[in-house]
Amino acid sequence: MATDVNNRLIWLNGQVMNVNDAKINVLSPTAQFGLNVFEGIRCYWNKEQQQLYAFRLPEHYRRLERSARLLQLSCPYTIDQMASAMADVVKANEYKEDIAVRQTLFADGFGSWTTRMEVGMFIAPIPKRHTSAEYNKAGLRCCVSSWQRINDNSLSPRIKCGANYINSRMAQLEALRNGYDTTIFLNHQGKVAEGPGSCLFLVRDGILVTPLITDSVLESITRDTVLRMAKDMGIPTEERSVDRTELYLCEEAFLCGSAMGLTPITAIDGYEIPPQSENSLTYRLAYQYDRIVRGQDAAYTHWLTPIW
Ligand SMILES: Cc1ncc(COP(=O)(O)O)c(C=O)c1O
Repeated sequence: MATDVNNRLIWLNGQVMNVNDAKINVLSPTAQFGLNVFEGIRCYWNKEQQQLYAFRLPEHYRRLERSARLLQLSCPYTIDQMASAMADVVKANEYKEDIAVRQTLFADGFGSWTTRMEVGMFIAPIPKRHTSAEYNKAGLRCCVSSWQRINDNSLSPRIKCGANYINSRMAQLEALRNGYDTTIFLNHQGKVAEGPGSCLFLVRDGILVTPLITDSVLESITRDTVLRMAKDMGIPTEERSVDRTELYLCEEAFLCGSAMGLTPITAIDGYEIPPQSENSLTYRLAYQYDRIVRGQDAAYTHWLTPIW
């Protein structure tokens, strides 16, 4: 029997413990300045195979290492150690269902925001039975944010660190206040960037288009997955800068990320996107993504790490 969510087990600095017993120093740089880097990893349950698959795990850990490197935090664990700690805590919870795992390296101790040492790690898995409004599979009504996306010369979106999500918070809360489900950022050059916790794709004249990775976008694993799936499915793709008005003219659009998978957009700033059929690229890609992450397509099993 899997653990009750409020008493689930988490891994903290080498030990598996009840989430309520996992404590950190309130004076630590992570608590005071959001000095942490993290990954949101998804594991999908395959009922027939009675197996839980972590999706593109090494890619997540490589990005975690790169985020730590850019912030000059010394990561005390190898990729193998991070992966085996993750499997240990998922097994300790006896999870045999879809889960999300937050794996965070954080600046611990009494240092200030310049500290490089005393890096701790926690790993917190949670069942993913429900999705929030932002991830509504029925489709998202979006706005273009009045908040600009952070950029590489101020706070790099390439670094997946806690502090970056203040920018996302401002934009997402503004969108909700104004009656939208979520929002799309423009970057400092006025080009389309990404969502607050997701990357953006749109379809124009049958071509699947996504903003450049250098247009203030996280180096998203799902973005990369969609581009690779599209190529394998014979769908033409373009990575290029995208203008705001293209959002209003597109035939299809969706947001994607580990947390939300592929989620269609139904309107942007009140410009309606035509209802999608089962032949739409969004539908076909979302369907294929779900098969791949659950281990139902043998051509992509190299992206899966079995937990059990
Ligand atoms: C700002 C932002 N962009 C994109 C993504 C999607 O990244 P990934 O596909 O690696 O989950 C996320 C999710 O973490 C995000 O926070």
